[in-house]
This record gives sequence, structure tokens and C-alpha cells, in this order.
Amino acid sequence: MRDLDPLAAAAPDLAAMRVDYGNPLVAPADEPDLDPDWVADGWEPLLRNWIEQARRLGVAEPNAMVLATVSLTGPAPRPVARTVLCKGLSPEGVTFYTNYDSAKGTQLAADPYAAASFVWPALARQVHVRGVTERVPADVTAAYWAQRPRESRLGAWASQQSRPIASRADLDRTLAETTARFADVDDIPVPPFWGGYLLRPDEVEFWQGRHGRLHNRIVVRIDGDNTTVERLQP
Ligand SMILES: Cc1cc2nc3c(=O)[nH]c(=O)nc-3n(C[C@H](O)[C@H](O)[C@H](O)COP(=O)(O)O)c2cc1C
Repeated sequence: MRDLDPLAAAAPDLAAMRVDYGNPLVAPADEPDLDPDWVADGWEPLLRNWIEQARRLGVAEPNAMVLATVSLTGPAPRPVARTVLCKGLSPEGVTFYTNYDSAKGTQLAADPYAAASFVWPALARQVHVRGVTERVPADVTAAYWAQRPRESRLGAWASQQSRPIASRADLDRTLAETTARFADVDDIPVPPFWGGYLLRPDEVEFWQGRHGRLHNRIVVRIDGDNTTVERLQP
């Protein structure tokens, strides 16, 4: 199996890998330190701004975030993490779309608390969003679904996400069947098992790496109408 992967021969010296953190668009001396003032208008404008800066820098999938949920099916709670795309951002929270019957969907049904981490190594920045999730209203899902290409819609119908399947051929067959089923349907509807979640943060942490120095961490805590901002040690 390893021989099939042309990259398997490469043996990176992981311990020797080291970069000097900082924003490549700004000279180290000119880059301002992340400061509580940056979240004076709330956490959302700063997160939006950082996603946009990553996009302008050409970062692939600048809205990707690693979503951690809790699995309660074993003898003890276990964290489970995977990447999803942030497809909506408002002062209320971050929104992502998935299969409600997937592993993450099942986990969120049992325990709605989640954490999402954005990381942009090219900018030496990360943001953690932690809080409780809820399903978005059906009309919000429908509005996003309307933007999805036909292929993505067919994929959502075809995949029983997170369930085992015997082979790639079986998966391709399922897609072919789904494609045939919707052949005469122009506007493929939203599957009943698919939709969005809003992660409403009670905590958002911004992290900025600094050139050869102590890094900056600012955490915003939201408790009802009460918001506090604190600097954390790196
Ligand atoms: C860059 C990237 C973006 C992804 N975006 C999504 C997404 O928006 N929604 C989704 O359900 N899965 C997305 N995935 C796939 C998930 O990481 C994951 O494999 C899938 O949702 C099944 O997760 P689960 O079994 O833990 O529920 C993405 C994967 C990558 C690498």
C-alpha cells in the first residue's frame, strides 16, 4: 500500500520544522499587537476580517474550521474533530451545513456543545469559537441549499454520511441511482436529513503569532448581554 503513494518515501524531519510566526504582509516591526480594542465592536467583525484577509492572501478554504463535538456512546465522553466550512457568520454565531444523521449530527443531538477552530498558518492566526449549537430554521437551510450546485445536491442525497459502505463502486452506484431519480427534477429539494447548525459562542479566542516573541491571545466571553474581554498568556 505504501508503495502506491509516491510521497511515502519522503521522511520529513518534523522536529526541525520551524517557522517564525507573523503576518507576511507586514514588516515585523510594523505589525500591531492584537489588542482588546480589536474586539470593541464584538468578536464577529474581527473574525470576518481575518477570514477575508486569509482569502485575499490566497489561503485555500479560508472559511474552513475544525469542528469538535463530544461522543457520548462509549464508556466515557470522547472528543471527535473534523473539518467543516463556515457558511454563515453573524453576531449570533457561525453556521455550517452537514448531514443531520452523520456522526457529528448524532453527537450534537446528544450533546449540543461544540468547539470550532479556524487556523491560518500563512497569517499566523487562529480563532476558537466555543458554545452551544442549534439547528438553523428550514428557510435558512433552503436559502443556502439554493446556492449549491446540482452535483453537491446529488451528493448530499446520495451519501448516508458517516455510515460504512462496502466499496467505492457501491458509492458510485448509489450516486448513479440518485442522479437517475432526480433526472426530471430541475430544483432538487433539500433532503430532510440535511441542514445547518448555528454555533452560538459563549467564548471566542483570537490568537496572533508574533515574530520570535510571545504570542497574543485575546478571549471574548459572552454571557447573555454581558461581554468580557481578557488577555491570556500564550
Ligand atoms: C476542507 C474541508 C471542508 C469540509 N467541509 C464540510 C462541510 O462543510 N460539511 C460536512 O458535512 N463535511 C465537510 N467536510 C468533511 C468532514 O470533514 C467530515 O469528513 C464529514 O462531515 C463526516 O464527519 P463525521 O463523520 O464526523 O460526521 C469537509 C472536509 C474538508 C477537508
